[in-house]
Amino acid sequence: MCAYNITWSKNFRTGGLPITIHLTTEIAGLELANPTILAAGILGISGLTLKRVAKAGAGAIVTKSLGLKPRSGYKNPTVVQVDGGLVNAMGLPNPGIEHFSQEIKETKGIATPIIASIYAFSPKEFSIVAEKAIEIGADGLELNVSCPHAHKTGAEIGQDPRLVEAVVKEVKRIVEKPVFVKLTPNVADIARLAKAAEMGGADAITAINTVKAMVIDVETATPILHNKIGGLSGPAIKPIAVRCVYEIYSAISIPLIGCGGICNWRDAVEFLEAGASAVQIGTAIATKGPRIFKQISEGIKSFLVKKKLRSVREIVGTAHKK
Ligand SMILES: Cc1cc2nc3c(=O)[nH]c(=O)nc-3n(C[C@H](O)[C@H](O)[C@H](O)COP(=O)(O)O)c2cc1C
Repeated sequence: MCAYNITWSKNFRTGGLPITIHLTTEIAGLELANPTILAAGILGISGLTLKRVAKAGAGAIVTKSLGLKPRSGYKNPTVVQVDGGLVNAMGLPNPGIEHFSQEIKETKGIATPIIASIYAFSPKEFSIVAEKAIEIGADGLELNVSCPHAHKTGAEIGQDPRLVEAVVKEVKRIVEKPVFVKLTPNVADIARLAKAAEMGGADAITAINTVKAMVIDVETATPILHNKIGGLSGPAIKPIAVRCVYEIYSAISIPLIGCGGICNWRDAVEFLEAGASAVQIGTAIATKGPRIFKQISEGIKSFLVKKKLRSVREIVGTAHKK
């Protein structure tokens, strides 16, 4: 695991005494070496890729969303590139929670926390998948109540505050490890959903999942994705995601993880200033590769030095003072 706490031997503020810059971040009891996290569905598909991302310097890793049973997902095309990002409708393909245990076993020895992203079709089923995810070795859970293109799960649950609260309550009844709830931006009032998750006992909120979107081939007047409707990710959604984080921060008292269009350290710092304690990175990995985790951590470190600050915590939520 890459830790980025550094000690400067000569320091301008302390008249030569060493000063330590802390990139370590604590989210609901989980110790992260730095505030960068792999977002769900990107590379978190096998033990090998999980290990690769950990070695590349991610502070934590979220797996692909896993359900009770194996699921093949939608037919191709499932991903299309657009200006400013990707539109995807994968359809939650996954081997099922039991089959993923081998992949988690392969990450043994890695200090980077592994968060299992899970989805289900009812509060009860969520609790069953949650229990199995912890049994197979996950360090925490992220409840996907935000996938914009799945039926009877994902955002169909995550748009209803009562259902969100019920799902979280049921999971927290069974599981002691940290539970993050990943929200959809496709609602009128995302802060209301965050409050519902907090009321249910969530330990942290992840915001956001993809923005509902569609692409049509103009020559043939045909929707390109097999599922027709998908979710937009990448730089195009960053201002939406920053706004969501900003609104949620004022509404809740649990930690917040920002996600959506983060491509460099500046984007990451913007989310921290909006109120996130850590950030998730997804689409940018397609263009920059896993080295993006180290690049962002080093950029945040330089920013802290430039601003004469010592820890990530000192940046969190600072935009709310303006
Ligand atoms: C190809 C693809 C697959 C994804 N699969 C999942 C998934 O399984 N579960 C989930 O919660 N989010 C999933 N997401 C959403 C991402 O985790 C993230 O919330 C979103 O892409 C916004 O972040 P980004 O702009 O950094 O990609 C997926 C995104 C993409 C592009």
